[in-house]
Amino acid sequence: MNWNKEMLKGFIEKAVADQEFIVVSCREPYLHQYSNEGITYINPASGMASAIMPIMTACGGTWIAYGAGEADRDVVDEHDRIAVPPDDPKYTLRRIWLSKEEEEGFYYGYANEGLWPLSHIVYSRPTFREGDWQMYRLVNEKFCRAVIEELGGRPGFVFIQDYHFALLPRLIKNERPDVVVAQFWHIPWPNREAFRVCPHGDEILDGLLGNDVLGFHLRYHCLNFLETVNQNIESIVNYERFSVTCHGRESLVRAFPISIDFDSLSAIAASPEIEARSAAIRGDFRVRGKSLGVGIDRVDYTKGIIERFTAIDRFLEKFPDFCEKFVFMQMGPISRINIPKYREYNDAVYHVMLEINEKWRVKDWRPIIMQKVHLSLEEVVAHYRAADLCIVSSIHDGMNLVAKEFVASRVDEDGVLLLSQFTGASRELPEALLINPLAVDQFAEQIHRALEMPVEERRGRMRRMRGKIERNNVFRWAGHILEEMKKQR
Ligand code: F6P
Repeated sequence: MNWNKEMLKGFIEKAVADQEFIVVSCREPYLHQYSNEGITYINPASGMASAIMPIMTACGGTWIAYGAGEADRDVVDEHDRIAVPPDDPKYTLRRIWLSKEEEEGFYYGYANEGLWPLSHIVYSRPTFREGDWQMYRLVNEKFCRAVIEELGGRPGFVFIQDYHFALLPRLIKNERPDVVVAQFWHIPWPNREAFRVCPHGDEILDGLLGNDVLGFHLRYHCLNFLETVNQNIESIVNYERFSVTCHGRESLVRAFPISIDFDSLSAIAASPEIEARSAAIRGDFRVRGKSLGVGIDRVDYTKGIIERFTAIDRFLEKFPDFCEKFVFMQMGPISRINIPKYREYNDAVYHVMLEINEKWRVKDWRPIIMQKVHLSLEEVVAHYRAADLCIVSSIHDGMNLVAKEFVASRVDEDGVLLLSQFTGASRELPEALLINPLAVDQFAEQIHRALEMPVEERRGRMRRMRGKIERNNVFRWAGHILEEMKKQR
């Protein structure tokens, strides 16, 4: 049975009838900003947000998130709420304001200098500062107050997103044990050896065990979590039920591989506007007459952007016939730029790109075109459609939705996906050309293989991948989580 928007809507109407449905995340779905046209909004570059948006649009409810846009305060009501999507409201966004210190300590500090590198095994050391931890606790408490307020004494389901809120489930349960709480951890869960350096490990695990249901992308991450708990916390870990019992309450630990709204993306990709835009991208003088590769990522050291550029350089060394015949477009916004490691990475990506382009340039041809900009969904899809290949070379990634979006965009059943074996998506998509981003020669060979792949093979692989993502779509992901939540009622 294929889950779709309508089915999920019907399911929620029954399962959540007369109850509050609340989603909590750090990143909000709409960021309001000032522009020449007045106050406008953008959707942030976030796999998490793009997965939750179609669910909220289909099912309604309240989404509580940090109001990070510069014009966010100008558009909310006296309760800090705004109906969204702004052009066709379907649910409520409740914005939470953070002070500069809170943003520094909670978001940049503990979440992104501590938990992010702790969870991604990319050989970048996490930093844990006591001040950041205090802010992390404080902000989790702040969000807890907002959840309790939005529940308003009514029964409800609370669905928390990600590593920014490890303490929130326990805080909510302490106040409202009757409410069903679930959380999805959108990034990998590290093995217990990696986790043991976290000085607040026990509090984090205890917080997460406030959940009735705790979801990860992969069974492997669930096992890592169970092992970590087994090693650290007084509890009963049940490897058959995949659950942990702690303080007399059971938390189920489950794998729910996240996905995308396949039908909507395919429909956008098939529209005449996107076809025209994609033709225009192919017609750009820097691209015209050449094979085109694309990569779309936030500039983040887990994404393997430098490894990707290095592999392109190696590819040209190995296959010099492709000089002036292949061009690679790297796009996506800069990210978390207040963090020194991100600033350094951003500079390093730029310098590697310059060096490679300088080494190979001929007249107006450069092998790499880089645009560090935020793209609308339509622009993203048009680039996917224009490309001959797409490279996802993360060094470690919970799932990676770029891979799935590329597949959904290829309504023409063409194009080759090169996919890192260190992404969750590679478990579902073995038809992609799998790469180890650190094995530069093998990576370069795979770029060559993609460019030389016969059309029948390309289509066969793409068709199989499309079939899978069509079935395993984001509505199925949400449906399975909500089914588990409903059982806890
Ligand atoms: O999926 C992981 C994640 O950290 C999301 O929580 C987040 O929205 C996204 O990546 C982008 O990161 P950020 O919100 O910090 O820009």
